[in-house]
Amino acid sequence: MTLLDVRGLRVEAAGTTLVDGVDLAVAAGRRTAVLGPSGSGKSLTALAVLGLLPPALRARGSVRLDGVEVLARPSARRPARLRPGAVRQDSSGALHPLLPVGRQLALGRRDPRGRTRAAVLQTLRTLGFTDPAAIAAALPSELSGGQRQRACLAMALAAPSALLVADEPTTALDVVTQAGVVDLLRTHTSPATGRSLLFVTHDIAVAAALCDEVVVLDEGRVVERGGFAAVLRAPRAERTRALVAAARAVAGPRVPA
Ligand SMILES: Nc1ncnc2c1ncn2[C@@H]1O[C@H](COP(=O)(O)OP(=O)(O)OP(=O)(O)O)[C@@H](O)[C@H]1O
Ligand SMILES: [Mg+2]
Repeated sequence: MTLLDVRGLRVEAAGTTLVDGVDLAVAAGRRTAVLGPSGSGKSLTALAVLGLLPPALRARGSVRLDGVEVLARPSARRPARLRPGAVRQDSSGALHPLLPVGRQLALGRRDPRGRTRAAVLQTLRTLGFTDPAAIAAALPSELSGGQRQRACLAMALAAPSALLVADEPTTALDVVTQAGVVDLLRTHTSPATGRSLLFVTHDIAVAAALCDEVVVLDEGRVVERGGFAAVLRAPRAERTRALVAAARAVAGPRVPA
């Protein structure tokens, strides 16, 4: 079943076309990577899916989530199940600076009375925090970047939507924390959980370790798509070949052949 279906997405700013007819689909329980050079339209595509495009930009085409057209509906005007969980590159802006992490995780949850705290601590535990009570009591500024990123992931996973949109969630992290976040994304998005992932990144090694499918953007257009392994084995588009070659030069065998 198709959970996310983007057709002919165009995003324009005052006469310039920034995203130019992007088609992409994510099946239920699957993970799709969006790759492409800087400025190719990855984040704008993700923001259109999330309903968080800046108001100055105009979007056309279609974004269907769970069969419902949502492109014209900003996030705030969508019901919760059509508001995908979101993890951003810079996690600091996603958390309120003056509220303890546990309180933020509790907001918007609908657990039975008295069960919210237990549910929040359990979520933090599944995200690899060995002392969830201390993390729940901490302010975002008292956490490390990696801890904050995992707290954001906990918030995103608490969203009732079956889609998770992660835009460069690992780029700012050290490789150990990065591996932890990738594991968490893998555990929490799969056919077993029914949750899907749209994973925006320029890190091909990380994407290859996580995603089944890939869409490659260049100057706002899709230049290649397919199963990740097949695209890595035989990239067809010039842009994909260049990205894969550059990734191999940096990450070596972490980018599978
Ligand atoms: N609010 C905006 N107003 C006008 N142009 C914008 C706006 N946001 C992004 N752009 C432009 O749209 C294009 C695509 O931007 P986008 O952020 O989607 O790139 P990206 O693929 O995510 O790049 P990166 O890998 O650097 O994050 C860029 O040329 C960018 O300058
Ligand atoms: Mg971006």
